[in-house]
Amino acid sequence: MPPKAIIAPSILASDFGQLSHECSRIIGQGADWLHIDIMDGHFVPNITIGAPVVTCIRGSVERSQDWSKGVFDCHMMVAEPQRWLEDFKKAGCDLYCFHYEAAETSKAPHTPSSELIRQVHALGLKAGVAIKPDTPVDVLFPLLDGDDEKPDMVLVMTVEPGFGGQKFQHRCMPKVEALRKRYPELDIEVDGGLGLETIDVAAEAGANVIVAGTAVFGAADPSEVIAKLKSVVEKNLVR
Ligand code: DX5
Ligand code: ZN
Repeated sequence: MPPKAIIAPSILASDFGQLSHECSRIIGQGADWLHIDIMDGHFVPNITIGAPVVTCIRGSVERSQDWSKGVFDCHMMVAEPQRWLEDFKKAGCDLYCFHYEAAETSKAPHTPSSELIRQVHALGLKAGVAIKPDTPVDVLFPLLDGDDEKPDMVLVMTVEPGFGGQKFQHRCMPKVEALRKRYPELDIEVDGGLGLETIDVAAEAGANVIVAGTAVFGAADPSEVIAKLKSVVEKNLVR
C-alpha cells in the first residue's frame, strides 16, 4: 500500500492541565494521530508522562478501526524501552516507537531492536524505530531488509530528542531520502521543528508522517495548519 499523509500533533506542546480536552479537540480539528512524547529523564534530560496518564487520555480519544484516526503514536524516549511495553499496551498505546540507540544498549533483559519489534507485535501493537540526528540511517537497513519481523514505521528525528520548540535540522533530510528511495511503501515519520516553513523539505525528501507540536498547538487556527501540512505531504506523495 502506498503511504498516506498522516499529521500527528505532539501533545507536548498542549496544555497538560487539560490534556484530555486538548487531545479530543485536536482530533476534532483534523489531526490523524496523536504523538505522545514519553521521556524518562535518563535517555533524555527531561521527564513527561507515563502510562497512567496515557490511560486517562485514551478514555477521550477513540481509534478508528482502519487506523486512520486517533492512533496513539507513543514516542518512547526512554533508556529501557522493553521495560514499559506491557504498561503502554494496557494504557491504550497503538504504535510503540522506541529508540534504536536505547534498545541496542538496554540493560538486562537486554532487548535489541529486532527482539523488541517481535515483542511489540506479539502484543498486537505496531512497532516504530526512531533514530537521533547523529545516528546513521544504515543501522535501520538490517531491520527493514532482514527475515525478522519488520518495523511498521521509522522515525527520523529532526531535532535532538528531549524538548519541543527546537529548530529543524535540515542535515537529517538525506536519511529520509535514502529511506524513501529504498522503501517506497514505508511509513517514515519526522519529528522536531516541523511547521509551515519546514514541511516542504521534509515532504520532498519523502516523509509521510508529520509530527508537529508548537506549530499546531501554538497556532491561532490549528485546523488550518493541519490541513496545510497535510496537503503539502499529499502533493509530494502523488509525484
Ligand atoms: C522532542 C519531541 C517532539 C516535540 C516536537 O523530543 O520528540 O515530538 O514535541 O515539538 P516541536 O514540533 O515543537 O518541535
Ligand atoms: Zn516526539
